[in-house]
Formats: sequence, C-alpha cells, structure tokens
Amino acid sequence: MPASSNLKKTQHQTDVLVIGSGAAGLSAALRLAHLGNVTVLSKAEVTEGSTFYAQGGIAAVLHENDSVDSHVADTLIAGGGLCDEAAVRYTIEHSTEAIHWLIDRGVVFSKQDQEYHLTREGGHSQRRIIHSDDATGKAVSTTLVAAVKAEPNIHILEHYIAVDLITEHKLGNEDRENRCVGAYILNLAEDQVETINARFVILATGGASKVYLYTSNPDVASGDGIAMAWRAGCSVANLEFNQFHPTCLYHPEARSFLITEALRGEGAFLRRPNGERFMPEYDDRAELAPRDIVAQTIDHEIKKLGVDCVYLDISHKEPEFIKNHFPTIYNKLLQFGIDMTVDAIPVVPAAHYTCGGVKVGLNSQTDLEGLYAIGEVAYTGLHGANRMASNSLLECLVFAQAAASDIEQQWQAGDNARILPQWDDSQVTDSDEEVVLNHNWHELRQLMWNYVGIVRSDKRLERALRRIELLQQEIHDYYANFKVSNDLIELRNLVVVAELIVRCAQLRKESRGLHFTLDYPRVLDEAIETVLKPLK
Ligand code: FAD
Ligand code: SIN
Repeated sequence: MPASSNLKKTQHQTDVLVIGSGAAGLSAALRLAHLGNVTVLSKAEVTEGSTFYAQGGIAAVLHENDSVDSHVADTLIAGGGLCDEAAVRYTIEHSTEAIHWLIDRGVVFSKQDQEYHLTREGGHSQRRIIHSDDATGKAVSTTLVAAVKAEPNIHILEHYIAVDLITEHKLGNEDRENRCVGAYILNLAEDQVETINARFVILATGGASKVYLYTSNPDVASGDGIAMAWRAGCSVANLEFNQFHPTCLYHPEARSFLITEALRGEGAFLRRPNGERFMPEYDDRAELAPRDIVAQTIDHEIKKLGVDCVYLDISHKEPEFIKNHFPTIYNKLLQFGIDMTVDAIPVVPAAHYTCGGVKVGLNSQTDLEGLYAIGEVAYTGLHGANRMASNSLLECLVFAQAAASDIEQQWQAGDNARILPQWDDSQVTDSDEEVVLNHNWHELRQLMWNYVGIVRSDKRLERALRRIELLQQEIHDYYANFKVSNDLIELRNLVVVAELIVRCAQLRKESRGLHFTLDYPRVLDEAIETVLKPLK
C-alpha cells in the first residue's frame, strides 16, 4: 500500500505508523522498511527524546568473562523479585545481536587498546556497558536518524503530535474485531488535526517522567502513549515504579542535567556536605548499589541533614582520565563554574524512568490487535520493581526487533485500509487561557512530586488522587471546548498517567524496589504485578 504522496493532505495512508522517533521507534522503522511504507511521527525535532540524552551506555553480554546468566541474575536482583524472567532472558539473549546491529548501522562506540571499552554501573556485577564516551544516546540517535533519512520507504512527520488512536470500535464498527486502524495527529506547523490510516501502529512515545516536577527527561516525556493506549482499551501495569535517578545536577541554572551513573562505576564517591562518604553505612555495594537504594538513601540524607543536595566526587582520579571518559559532563559543568577534576558536584535525585507502561507480550503486541508498544512506553516485564542501569536502550532495540518480526509474520493479514472520519472541531474555540493551563501543569507536577515521590503513604496517595480528579474535570472541560494544542494534549495525557500511577501505587500493599510506602514498609512474600484494565 503506497504512502500518501502529498503529506499535506488531511488523510494520510501508510502501512506502518510509528509514533515516536527515539531508539525504539527508529529501530522498528528501519527493521520494517523492506516490507512497505513506514511513517514515523515525532512531536518535536526528530532527535528530541530521552534517547538523545542517554549518557552511560547500553548493557549487553559482550565480554568473554560475562554471560547471559550473569546479566539475567543481576537484572532479577535489581528488579526486586518482580521481573518476568522470560522477558529478562529474551532481552539479554538478544543483547549481543542488538549491539552488532547498531555497529552495522554505523554507531561508533568508545574503544581502549582496540577493544570496545565496557564501563560499569549500579547493580551490574561485571563491566558490560558499551558506550560512546558519556554521550551514547547522541551517537545512537544521530546515526539512526541518518539511516532513516536515507531509507526511501520511511517518511518522517516532524512536529506532529498524536492526539488519539483510532480503533474499529471507536469508528462504530462494533461487529468487527477491535483493531487499531490509525490515529488523529495534530500538525503543529499548520495547527490542524489530520488523520492517518495504518495497517499496523507502533507506540514508541517514551516515558512519563514529566509528570514529576523535577526530572532528568526532556519535555517530550509526557506519557502520551500510555494515555492513548489506555483510552483505546489497553491494559497498563506496574506504573507505581517510577525510577528516580540518584544524581542530577543541582544548580539553579541547570535544567534536567544528568550526571551519569558511570561516574560511580569509575570510582566516584557520594559525600555529605562535610565531605564524609555515606553510602557504605547503608549498603555493602556502597555507591554501586541499585538505583532505588541509592536514590532513597540520598533522599533520606537530604531530609535528615536539612540540606539541599549531596555531592558526587571523582576528583581523586587523574584529571586526564576524567576529561577523557566524561568530556560532555566535564564541559557542561565548567559552564556552571564547576571543575569536576577538583570540585565535588552538587546532586539530587530526579524522576528518570517509567518502569511500568502499556502491557505487551514478548512480541511487543498490546491487548489491541494491530497495536504494538516498544521502548519506555511499554511494560515488558524486563525491569520489575527497579530498572537496572543501561538496560532500557537495550530493551528499545530488542523489542523493536520483536515487533518488526511479529508484523512481518502478520503482513498479509493486516489489510485495514479505511477512509477515516475527519476530526471535528467545529464546536470548539481558540483558548485564551494559557495561564490556567500552565497553573494546572505546575499543580499536577508539584503534587506528584510531593505526594507520589520517593516516599509514599496511604494518606499522601489519597490526597494526590483527590487533586488529580479535580484537575481531570477542569482539563476535560478544556478539551471539550477549546482547540487542541500541544500543551493541552500533553496535560490531558499527564493527568491520566498521574491517576494510573496513583492507582497502581494504591494496589501495592508493600514496599518493593522503587515503591516505598510508610504504611507497608515490608516486602510481601509473593511478587505480583499491578495490572489495570480499562472499563469497556
Ligand atoms: P524516546 O527516546 O524518549 O523518544 C520518544 C519519542 O516519542 C520522541 O521522538 C517524541 O517526540 C515522540 N513522542 C512522544 N509522544 C508523542 C506523540 N503524542 N506524538 C508524536 N510523537 C510523540 N538508558 C540506557 O539504557 N542507558 C543510558 O545511558 C541512559 N541514560 C539516560 C540519560 C538521560 C538523561 C535520560 C533522560 C534517560 C536515559 N536512559 C538511559 C533511558 C533511555 O534513554 C530511555 O529509556 C530510552 O531512550 C527511551 O527511548 P524511546 O525510544 O522509548 O523514547
Ligand atoms: C546514566 O548514565 O546514569 C543513565 C543510565 C540509565 O539511565 O540507564
């Protein structure tokens, strides 16, 4: 089926619609382009997404001293007993192939003495993180973007934001099997909602950490895919597990700047403001304990001491070593007057990664026929209660390939060419209430930070839910009466995700991994996923 030749038309037609242009979306597009037309949607510039900002690297079995079993064992431990072992094993068994696929596409990874240099991060018992200095995501993103642009079967729609998925049942075809047949998409340049019909749709929209006031993520991480899938009838799981990265730069002028865990992997210490190390007092693995433990410890120290931040210190290493291994961070910190070869770096935890998401199987398919979810938007079972560092880019690559294989197998069966009804905005007006929208944004992210952050309780979750329900009502009224805009779409999605996070958290009557609640401080014997299913 040919893609629309005139992409300005309000009805686009494509074989595969990929919503999102990070590592997951671009890999899937490249793996599918030999079959037919693939359209990739990106709501900002094509490189903008968490992938571009990834620093540490990608975990994979690449050294003769390492093994699938060892990587699996570390992942299961970090995941607090809640990983799906089949998903973990599937991911890691495909890790070597995934890295070679990237190398074949042209990604240049750092080498030392002609061998790929492997670094270490929290929870890993081995050096197994392949990286491009401290800017791995930039290397992956720019290489994949170049490959996609060179592929004639792939069309990129940049500055297009998906508003909602279109399903057979939404079209009133209750007699047909419910299937995803496309999406409404807002062309941000033209300020016009268009339709796109696709035989297969892949959600690759990234995570939802922007639901929190402080985050390491770029602005695009507003949980759109989770909210769209939920509205289309898909189950979500384990959304209470939002990972807080322990070390984001604490500086009034720095916005969302991460200090990679690889610093600790290469020997950096966490210190109190008076210079004392504190991690060995809490965990034998000290600075290399899994992320949930390090973030909770820092949060505890900050509250106990009544200070704004703690410090990450690598100044005991040779200046040349620091500059060679961490050139991006070194140069960025200099802009803020911090010389990491002599100064300790002020750091705080910030929301970093959405471990739960749209529930999928090992073939990346959601509950809805024709709809796949890959990358951070998905819940595959790999991360359990806490993602181990650098396992997420790996998940993007492996599950993009899984989706592509499944689609290839179903290629004949998926003919669902449709004329989709136009978006009807005849009853709505332009909004002049940006101020109200901004306040709602701020209120939501602040309340999530205060009540649904690193430490939770029943009372805090109840308070959060009451406020979220009020905000939902206001945003619903907005959505019904005013023209959709990027901010309104994101806010509407974030408030859905916030509710789902709280509802998952309320279901978990224990403290496990990233979910710590004062009311149930113990870990239950049985580890169970929190799955939410939309009411039909
Ligand atoms: P993203 O790369 O976030 O891409 C999402 C895409 O979806 C974007 O193109 C966006 O425009 C698009 N999109 C979203 N909503 C819509 C919509 N409604 N319509 C149209 N398009 C939409 N992981 C590791 O494994 N190793 C690391 O070293 C590492 N470092 C990290 C450092 C930082 C600072 C951050 C923030 C994350 C890091 N992570 C790391 C996590 C990892 O980068 C992400 O989990 C991963 O890149 C997610 O990739 P993705 O393709 O799922 O989504
Ligand atoms: C980091 O470099 O610390 C981030 C790694 C990750 O999030 O996996």
